[in-house]
Amino acid sequence: MEIHGAVYRYPALVGSGLVANAGEEVAKRLRCPRCAIISDTNIAPLLADRVKQSLTSSGFRSTLITIPAGEKSKTLEQAGAICDQMIAAGLDRQSFVIGLGGGVIGDISGFVAAIFHRGIPHVQIPTTLLAMVDSSIGGKTGVNTGAGKNLIGAVHHPSLVIDDLDVLKTLPQREFNQGFAEIIKHAIIADAEMFDALKYVDLENLAPLIRRNIEIKSQIVTKDERDRTGERALLNFGHTVGHAIERAGDYRKFLHGEAISLGTVAACEVSIRKAGLPQDQRNVIVDLLQKFKLPTQLPPNFPREKIFEALPFDKKFESGEVRFVVTPRIGSAHLSRDVTMEDMREAVDQL
Ligand SMILES: NC(=O)c1ccc[n+]([C@@H]2O[C@H](COP(=O)([O-])OP(=O)(O)OC[C@H]3O[C@@H](n4cnc5c(N)ncnc54)[C@H](O)[C@@H]3O)[C@@H](O)[C@H]2O)c1
Ligand SMILES: [Zn+2]
Repeated sequence: MEIHGAVYRYPALVGSGLVANAGEEVAKRLRCPRCAIISDTNIAPLLADRVKQSLTSSGFRSTLITIPAGEKSKTLEQAGAICDQMIAAGLDRQSFVIGLGGGVIGDISGFVAAIFHRGIPHVQIPTTLLAMVDSSIGGKTGVNTGAGKNLIGAVHHPSLVIDDLDVLKTLPQREFNQGFAEIIKHAIIADAEMFDALKYVDLENLAPLIRRNIEIKSQIVTKDERDRTGERALLNFGHTVGHAIERAGDYRKFLHGEAISLGTVAACEVSIRKAGLPQDQRNVIVDLLQKFKLPTQLPPNFPREKIFEALPFDKKFESGEVRFVVTPRIGSAHLSRDVTMEDMREAVDQL
């Protein structure tokens, strides 16, 4: 499928066996002779050889750069080290970057592509469900700092996205399930029909679902690429409380999607109070999250106070004013400015 924006246009291919044809697909779109494949220590042993071979047979020369797996690698220091390795390998402005991995690799490789020689093309080969339906689309790239996540970055759209469903076979179950938190989010904010279809989703044939999610995210991003009109902010549904829970768990207790699942339940409670969401719709949302083994209640001993402490640091608390995403009914969402800290406290207390 084609992704269109004001100044960009790129294909997102979704299907089976695509990694073996990566070189051919890249050759249709990029003339650059050399590239860096950026990957992590879990994925490189599984996939890097196949990608490299495919590139070689299409006439590209590639250098593999592997970084430690995990969020801790998404730093400015690591981005700098990758750039140094690219320079040492002789890559220049005629080169391009392939990000082969989940959202961490997508974000840091995209950031490197944005800054290396002031910007070279980026090809995404996402290997997690979350990266396929969310992080590889929209052009947001970046790294974390001690003060918070994604504080340094650039908008740099990829030239091509290759979603090969076969790579998901090695993805650990928890990582696979967390992708559904973002899919359910897309359904709640934009597509009631997809929400219903998710109850019967065929896990052996995910291509139509992934395509639909790419469409939803790219349509929202196209309307508000730079986060200015509030349209893109709708993608933050469940994320205000979700981010605070992630932080309160020191980014270890919950995966991102798991924290977002809890944040979604909290956002539903707020929506019941502030947007008229019917209780039974909140219940079907909770049921759907549970179907994908996502948490909908905090463990009894979880330090709830830490969640409240983490809330004011959330980007969405601008000058003391909360822009909270609420849903009046499944398939629709808007920003509300009358959500108070108290509403959130009650929603978290109920988790
Ligand atoms: N740019 C955006 O718009 C955007 C949107 C959402 C999330 N993100 C970012 O995405 C990141 C989270 O992404 P993620 O959940 O994909 O995490 P991740 O990249 O850390 O991948 C999760 C884990 O699965 C492993 N893995 C990945 N693919 C595998 C496969 N096919 N087989 C076996 N193991 C595999 C990884 O090595 C890692 O250990 C966060 O840094 C978040 O900030 C960015
Ligand atoms: Zn998210």
